[in-house]
Amino acid sequence: MCDIPKNEDPALIVGYETSDDAAVYQLDEKTGLIQTLDFFTPIVDDPFDFGQIAAANALSDVYAMGGTPRVAMNIVCFPNSLDTSILKEILRGGAEKVKESGAVLAGGHSIEDNEPKYGLSVTGIVDPMHIWQNTGAQVGDIVILTKPLGMGILTTALKEGMVDQETIAWITKIMGTLNKYAADAVKAFDIHACTDITGFGLMGHALEMAEGSQVTLELSLNSIPYIGAALPLAEMGIIPAGAYRNQAHVMPKTAFEGDLSVALMDICYDPQTSGGLLIALPEAQAEDAMHALEQALDIPFARIGKVIPMGTHALCMKP
Ligand code: CO
Ligand code: CO
Repeated sequence: MCDIPKNEDPALIVGYETSDDAAVYQLDEKTGLIQTLDFFTPIVDDPFDFGQIAAANALSDVYAMGGTPRVAMNIVCFPNSLDTSILKEILRGGAEKVKESGAVLAGGHSIEDNEPKYGLSVTGIVDPMHIWQNTGAQVGDIVILTKPLGMGILTTALKEGMVDQETIAWITKIMGTLNKYAADAVKAFDIHACTDITGFGLMGHALEMAEGSQVTLELSLNSIPYIGAALPLAEMGIIPAGAYRNQAHVMPKTAFEGDLSVALMDICYDPQTSGGLLIALPEAQAEDAMHALEQALDIPFARIGKVIPMGTHALCMKP
């Protein structure tokens, strides 16, 4: 996006300059319009599950901005050579997730392509006074992650037949879980910064938050939630290329302290699909926020660190 000229319209209150989750365009005093889109190739074998995951992923950026999705449109690429019943299942999965989000599916567009791809363009609304940007973290905040990591490693291994059915069902559930539930649970608290974990992995998105907020995020490796089955795979080197790109980008800006497991660090660089929310909120509200999340979520989440004054490195990883 770097080469695109800056937009001068003052109504575009969140643009692409801060690498935030979605753009926000202010319609009037009470309404900000959130626009986002995302689509990708299948990451699980079941077409219905893939549709659900792709939709949960596309809707997520609206939740990461503190907004509510209202209207969604399908984006579809599909080969003529494949049975259209597969496409029907993908779309059924997506439609079900959109319905669960409370938004309405208003159509879409499909083209013929060699490889199936699916996702959504989503329009949401947000109170312009309560936008959750990724740049507002404050010293003294604590940092919460609302889904476990390891999806890139596991979906890579899945393609090689290295993941058992039980684990596939578990990660399918996690990736298909709307970030709506985590967002709703913490809405009553003072959310200083929020983003969702996707392609840049936990470390990449945490770095954006730290740099954008001009603070240092101090994370504790042993508190970070991850799918247990991802660890032996990471130890074997079953790691997607994106994780190495994330690592190369983040490492120079990270201070590493103590004895850190290499495989666990790989999981922190691992690109996620439909990952959880990374939330910074005041320490004084931490206990209540964690309790609210406990009531709302049936997947692992954790308090993973805190915000400290900006040091020589934007990120600090401790055991
Ligand atoms: Co995002
Ligand atoms: Co996105």
